[in-house]
Amino acid sequence: MSLRPLCRLEDIPDGQAKGFSPAAGFAGLFAIRQGRQVFVYVNACPHIGVALDIMPDRFLNHRGNAIICALHGALFRIEDGFCTQGPCVGDSLEAVPAEVDAAGTVWVPEDAGL
Ligand code: FES
Repeated sequence: MSLRPLCRLEDIPDGQAKGFSPAAGFAGLFAIRQGRQVFVYVNACPHIGVALDIMPDRFLNHRGNAIICALHGALFRIEDGFCTQGPCVGDSLEAVPAEVDAAGTVWVPEDAGL
């Protein structure tokens, strides 16, 4: 599987999220950092497929312990994207396998978001 660099680990503040605009032919992605661990998802709500953030990089609820869709308030677990509350409860965000290398680069599959 070919990988492409998404960002540097330090581009995402620890405990926070960052969105990545769609490149040509790609859906947008977003990433949440917890220490050296990064969770990456396709930025599309399983409810009706829209981007989760209205404000740039605002993907977490105010407590910072769940992903929230700004449109109808669906809540998703950070660690696996499972929807625990809201109109798409029981559905999941599309997870993107991400790797952080020793140099601090975050890698995702080349076709992530396609
Ligand atoms: S579009 Fe996300 S909860 Fe409705």
